[in-house]
Amino acid sequence: TQSTSSALAFLPHIALLRLRPWQLVLCLDSYLAADRELTRPLPLTSPSIKLKHERNRERQERTAMAAGDGEVAVPAAEKPEEDQVVNPWEVSAKEGGKIDYDKLIVQFGCQRLDQSIIDRVHRLTSRPPHVFLRRGVFFAHRDFNEILDAYERGEKFYLYTGRGPSSEALHLGHLIPFMFTKYLQDAFKVPLVIQLTDDEKCMWKNLSVEESKRLARENAKDIIACGFDISRTFIFSDFNYVGGTFYENMVKIDKCVTYNKVVGIFGFTGEDHIGKISFPAVQAAPSFPTSFPHLFSGKENPRCLIPCAIDQDPYFRMTRDVAPRLGYHKPALIESLFFPALQGETGKMSASDPNSAIYVTDSGKILKNKINKYAFSGGQDTIEKQRQYGANLEVDISIKYLGFFLEDDAELEHIRREYGAGRMLTGDVKKRLGEVLTELVERHQRARATVTEEMVDAFMAVRPLPNMFN
Ligand code: TYM
Ligand code: TRP
Repeated sequence: TQSTSSALAFLPHIALLRLRPWQLVLCLDSYLAADRELTRPLPLTSPSIKLKHERNRERQERTAMAAGDGEVAVPAAEKPEEDQVVNPWEVSAKEGGKIDYDKLIVQFGCQRLDQSIIDRVHRLTSRPPHVFLRRGVFFAHRDFNEILDAYERGEKFYLYTGRGPSSEALHLGHLIPFMFTKYLQDAFKVPLVIQLTDDEKCMWKNLSVEESKRLARENAKDIIACGFDISRTFIFSDFNYVGGTFYENMVKIDKCVTYNKVVGIFGFTGEDHIGKISFPAVQAAPSFPTSFPHLFSGKENPRCLIPCAIDQDPYFRMTRDVAPRLGYHKPALIESLFFPALQGETGKMSASDPNSAIYVTDSGKILKNKINKYAFSGGQDTIEKQRQYGANLEVDISIKYLGFFLEDDAELEHIRREYGAGRMLTGDVKKRLGEVLTELVERHQRARATVTEEMVDAFMAVRPLPNMFN
């Protein structure tokens, strides 16, 4: 402890330097970054090892020790983190607050999806834009305009999305990118590749290879149940498919990305195993059409459009950074908000917390119970107060959920008005939400029950898709 406390005594001195060594590394790295994708390095964190509250606690402990004699000012970096954290492993807002999506757009350097793009999609596809576009669920993009330009010129593009099979069943949040991808596939009549990253979950969740592969197949059934067109859809698991030109692309990508760069983007630390450091290339490779020679060989390098929630953005920032150096188009992205946890908008619905999530396997009875028990209410404590003041719609989770899944604009507006004015009670809104979600999960469960092992094999077969662009 003697040597620890003398080492700690150095902390304030280090803080006097304008730049800490890691900041210097990040500055240099972003200076050297090939283009704007990586010019805003994110704060150095180690999400895969420690969650925000653990890091905060440790910082506070260190700070308390370092400031023990009351003499030294608390160095800036040692103050508890206040900022939100959004990365592929953790989504959490500032203490007690909501995710600030405007800030994310600026921090990540993506573009807001505005009404003119939505109108353009309407015009180009001659069908009403999906409710997720109308309501701003998909709210950000990168180069989606360029995809639409290319489409207008008659050039081809393909869709790419994915799922990390970490749990037996999907929750409602997972359905969002898949429901939206299905709409895009139908509206634009384009091929789709779906990556099941069983390797990723084997490494991060400490699942065995066999268990990860089993979960990938189970998840494939839920994905197929979303209604994808088998004549335009290829689903693959990394353990089964990676090889050939896909692997060649991984190696080319790996050669373009320094260790400093992945640390800057993902916050890996020296204690993370090397599997994690090499994984981003696996998620990047499907963005390049040559990874699928059975689909795209002989085609003119079609562009790629990736629908996902914004937590996946770091992978594709890296991908877009390397693409031009490898002679590929940068993949375009269309990114969604998070479907919030039942408890409120500080976090996303997450499979690892059963009380935060409604699974597609939940019965109507179970999900109604969860809603009644956990869905955070913006209503007043008593009926009298509710009648008098009305509900705070900004924090009410039932209203948020209805905004995702109640398609009737007029009914949604009616509920918002009546509940906000106190003429409806939380119980009434929860009851309607229970009905809407029961219908959704029951429809999903019926569809999933029809998915056979043979259908899974058929979707996952490495095969040409002859009419995928017609
Ligand atoms: P995974 O399995 O964690 O999530 C699959 C997709 O669901 C989105 N998602 C959510 N969307 C809205 N609200 C939520 N609460 C919510 N939780 C998850 C994720 O953003 C994702 O789009 N590594 C990826 C698999 C992957 C992938 C891809 C995803 C590989 N390549 C390309 C998108 C695009 C993963 O584990 O996702
Ligand atoms: N990495 C994602 C996760 O763990 C899963 C994933 C793989 C994915 N490929 C994708 C998500 C493509 C969106 C798009 O959350």
